[in-house]
Amino acid sequence: MKIGIIGTGYVGLVTGVCLAEMGHEVTCIDQNTAKIQLLQSGQAPIYEPGLEPLLTRHSALGTLQFRSSIAEMAEDAAAIFIAVGTPSGADGTADLSFVLQAADQIADFITRYTVVVAKSTVPVGTTRVIMERIQAKLESRGLSRKLADVVSNPEFLREGKAIEDFLQPDRIVVGIESQQAARVMEQIYEPLTKKGHSLIVMDLRSSEMTKYAANAMLASRISFINEIAELCEATGADVEKVRLGIGSDHRIGPFFLSAGVGYGGSCFPKDVAALMATAREYQASSSILQATVEVNRRQRKRFLAKVAEYFHGSLEGKAITVWGVAFKPDTDDIREAPALDLIKSLLNEGAAVSIHDPIALPHAKQVFGDRPGIRYFNDPYEAVQGAHALMLVTDWDVYRKADMDLVKKSMNKPVVFDGRNVFDPVQMKNAGFHHYSIGRKA
Ligand code: UGA
Repeated sequence: MKIGIIGTGYVGLVTGVCLAEMGHEVTCIDQNTAKIQLLQSGQAPIYEPGLEPLLTRHSALGTLQFRSSIAEMAEDAAAIFIAVGTPSGADGTADLSFVLQAADQIADFITRYTVVVAKSTVPVGTTRVIMERIQAKLESRGLSRKLADVVSNPEFLREGKAIEDFLQPDRIVVGIESQQAARVMEQIYEPLTKKGHSLIVMDLRSSEMTKYAANAMLASRISFINEIAELCEATGADVEKVRLGIGSDHRIGPFFLSAGVGYGGSCFPKDVAALMATAREYQASSSILQATVEVNRRQRKRFLAKVAEYFHGSLEGKAITVWGVAFKPDTDDIREAPALDLIKSLLNEGAAVSIHDPIALPHAKQVFGDRPGIRYFNDPYEAVQGAHALMLVTDWDVYRKADMDLVKKSMNKPVVFDGRNVFDPVQMKNAGFHHYSIGRKA
């Protein structure tokens, strides 16, 4: 099938590449001509494992094309996906200006029946608004309102695993108002449903809510286990053992129960805030969401407080190494990353901060530049030279496998604050480290 995608950000690009891999002919549109030129040359503007080989292959086959205007797209596309950003506006509400702009472009462009797919994360009720806007525009062009159906098709892609999540999904959710649109969506996803992946069709509002509820549920699980971790510290229990103990109950499951410095990224914080804004709009309760945000904020503060306490309240002149700036491993994304808050606080309190991250260092440099007190390292061992303490903030594999003997020899004092429970407390103690983790005692 011929498919158009508006927006070559993270979601748009992954969607385009994967739909081409599923056998469709895809044209991706973005107003950013520099980005389009980069993509046309076969390079991905983001780091995502597995993306570039598919991009190269389908560009060469001609099944994936990049254009800077919708006018350059085939007129007979069966579906056009809207995959533009919905940043958090003031008070947490999602800013829909890019989505509505894309809807207007589509309404001006189409001449035959097209399914418009809302892939961007939009608040409940928005897909209906997009539909109304497009159909009204079609009418004003003297065309039938029935030329366009708008469906909701939220994404559940994890950064770093996005290709796998798209091509081997736990489920595909589609919100529809018309059976004709449902059939088009079933055809688009047939290569996946044929392999046994489920497609769940529902109404528009439930589909939109599913996206927010999924992210809010996952975020609340993280805050839940972080609160339990605090209780474990207070009572002498070990949160890693508790995680095993509860996670093996099939009703609970083992995932998203890793205690740490809390969640970050471009999705959980934004989507939880947007859902709270929806709750305010409808005068509904959001107490679990509020608690989720509050615990997440506290988790970063508690981690820093442990370091300050170790140094008797003053970080002035202390050499602190931070391992990991990305909001999670396998990505160079530092949006809302816990490390950013922590580094800022360390610098404000007069510490000298040495930073290492396998790939996110250039982004960290964009944020902190050459602020006095900060140094950047491409080698994790050089970063710990002479350090008074090491704070592990992102659970990259390279840290998990680090040569801790070498780390110990390099540091001024062997003190590790393990913000992701990567190291075993007993082993660390036996190796001669002062080791502090989240919700565990040595
Ligand atoms: C998240 C969801 O997992 C995706 O399903 C969703 O599609 C995506 O948001 C989105 O809305 O676009 P992502 O932000 O890429 O994906 O990252 P996650 O892997 O979910 O991790 C989020 C944060 O939670 C990270 O900071 C991670 O370190 C933290 N986390 C995760 C924990 O602290 N503990 C855990 O047990 C799991």
